[in-house]
Amino acid sequence: MASGATEGRAQELRSQIDEANYRYYVLDDPAITDAEFDALLRELIELERAHPELRTPDSPTQRVGAPPSERFAPYRHAKPMLSLANAFDDDELRAFDERVRKLAGASVSYVCELKIDGLAIAVDYRDGALERGGTRGDGSVGEEVTPNLRTIHTIPLKLREPVSFIEVRGEVYLRKSDFEKLNVKREREGLPVFANPRNAASGGVRQLDPKLTAQRRLSFFAYAIAEPPPEIATQSQALELLRTLGFRVNEHIRAAANIDDVITYCREWEARRDDLDYEIDGVVVKVDDLATQERLGAVARDPRWATAFKFKPREARTKLVDIQITVGRTGTLNPNAVLEPVQIGGVTVRNATLHNADYIESNDIRIGDTVLVTRAGDVIPRVVGPILSERTGKEKRFTMPDACPVCGSAVDHPEGEAMSRCTNAACPAQVVERVRHFASRGAMDIEGLGDVMAEQLTSLRLVRDLADIYALDASKLGSVPRMGEKSIMKLLAAIEDSKARGLARVLTGLGIRFVGEQTAAILARDLRTIDAVAEASFDVLQASEGIGPEVASSVRLFFDQPANLEMIDRLRASGVVLESTAQAPAGGGKLAGKTFVLTGTLPTLSRDEASALIEAQGGKVTGSVSKKTDYVVAGDAAGSKLTKAQDLGVAILDEEGLRALL
Ligand code: IVH
Repeated sequence: MASGATEGRAQELRSQIDEANYRYYVLDDPAITDAEFDALLRELIELERAHPELRTPDSPTQRVGAPPSERFAPYRHAKPMLSLANAFDDDELRAFDERVRKLAGASVSYVCELKIDGLAIAVDYRDGALERGGTRGDGSVGEEVTPNLRTIHTIPLKLREPVSFIEVRGEVYLRKSDFEKLNVKREREGLPVFANPRNAASGGVRQLDPKLTAQRRLSFFAYAIAEPPPEIATQSQALELLRTLGFRVNEHIRAAANIDDVITYCREWEARRDDLDYEIDGVVVKVDDLATQERLGAVARDPRWATAFKFKPREARTKLVDIQITVGRTGTLNPNAVLEPVQIGGVTVRNATLHNADYIESNDIRIGDTVLVTRAGDVIPRVVGPILSERTGKEKRFTMPDACPVCGSAVDHPEGEAMSRCTNAACPAQVVERVRHFASRGAMDIEGLGDVMAEQLTSLRLVRDLADIYALDASKLGSVPRMGEKSIMKLLAAIEDSKARGLARVLTGLGIRFVGEQTAAILARDLRTIDAVAEASFDVLQASEGIGPEVASSVRLFFDQPANLEMIDRLRASGVVLESTAQAPAGGGKLAGKTFVLTGTLPTLSRDEASALIEAQGGKVTGSVSKKTDYVVAGDAAGSKLTKAQDLGVAILDEEGLRALL
């Protein structure tokens, strides 16, 4: 039995972790560092392991791990989950408003909400604790998916205010950035990619194993209370109450006094939808006053008090003229669609991704087809599939070539993998990509060695592998067309400079599968020298934080190739530093003693990656801006933290500025 003190400590940890989660996931304003958070969670896990009787169902440790279920039980909605009628233009919005005003017998004000493109769910709380939740289904009966919903951090396990019973409704969605990462991972694992975040979210909620749901990193916006308590008179108040209870409510919701304000809001967000890290497909316009909502009622499944203004689709039909193959850094053969140029959402699209041969085959996409193409935000345009009614019979099926289109070597298509690969590690296409990656900003940062130069050096056979970069000299570079003496000197100086970047950057630059900046920084921090990394066993590698079997075996595979070891010897002989240059954080490091706050979305680094890079140099990353903050690193959609930094006169950096500092 746990002592009273232990029980008290468990309770304290639970509330500290709940608070930290709330600030991180709901307010987007973390107050403690990831490391501090991990320490609290670890302590609680240990306590609960030693004293299982302390493990409560609403403990933050219970977000993962419920056993898989065979199938879902039905979830009956006490009040039907309605759908919405659509309005496609201003006239239809005005017609909606006229109907509303006529029925209400007075003028009405509205609430405008972004229409999140995910899936609707309902969650019940009894005595303040999450009891059960389900999908919309047909509006009357959905599927009960409680263990899965418990893995979503923006769905509180416990409300922040005591409430005896409440049913909350909202949208589960997947952020665009998480969607991109998920698809990259699935592609690597040979699994089919998702066409859009909505499908991935919906599949995630309906996993039989909640652990798989947890991996998908879903999010939730609450937008309604099924039966609001009597003291709540308007939708705006209901949203405010949801916020108070600890839900994430979308921050762009706006009150509109009349239909002109509604139209302004719809136009504004149709133009700004790409600024968001989640997909929206329109605006939901709701009558604010709940008594008026009640009075207006519903026709069939559609309430008369709300409508969905639908944005213009970002899909178009065009002709698939050809499929061309490019060869990536790891030898993957990537099929790209060559399209008849078409306007989608204000952009001319000429190319789109087709992912891999399986995607082309399973969607039955043929050259000459009229195809549906979508462009969703910053996601690369993709071919969704053929319009079968437009087939003439002249379309041609696509087959992956047996030989690499660049070097002619054999192509391998391993069983169970989606990608085909060129088997020749010296394939010029692979070498160009590897050189480009090695010289890139996050790796060895060699200015002047960009796309064009990498291409020229490889095609002139001046560079056949990465070590050849350091064997370049003025006479060799003299043979590159249009290279003057000045540019030659500049490039050689940049190559020379890069030698001192240190182990983390070299490891990033080598382009080992699954070893990005963050993993490279961890390996460099823990193993210190390239020889130690090269000799580390599978188990030693896995002992490092965040390094799993997939990464460990990829690192082993790389260093088991004699050609790679020989190349590393040549890098060493040229004077490239192959040891970690970052001091242990306490001993200094370039950023020792400096405090950073990250806000917004950076163009290439995730929050975790940026933190790892800063911490590797001895810097500290905290959650909130104060006078003690040295730098705020701001990306897209940076919010109040940026304003605060400006007010306090704290130095503000963008990603490029951060990289320069590093
Ligand atoms: S209100 C009667 N608010 O859009 C009101 N729905 O057909 C019904 N959706 O499947 C829902 N964002 O999943 C509402 N802010 C929002 C929403 C929203 C997205 C979805 C919802 C539903 C569909 C409406």
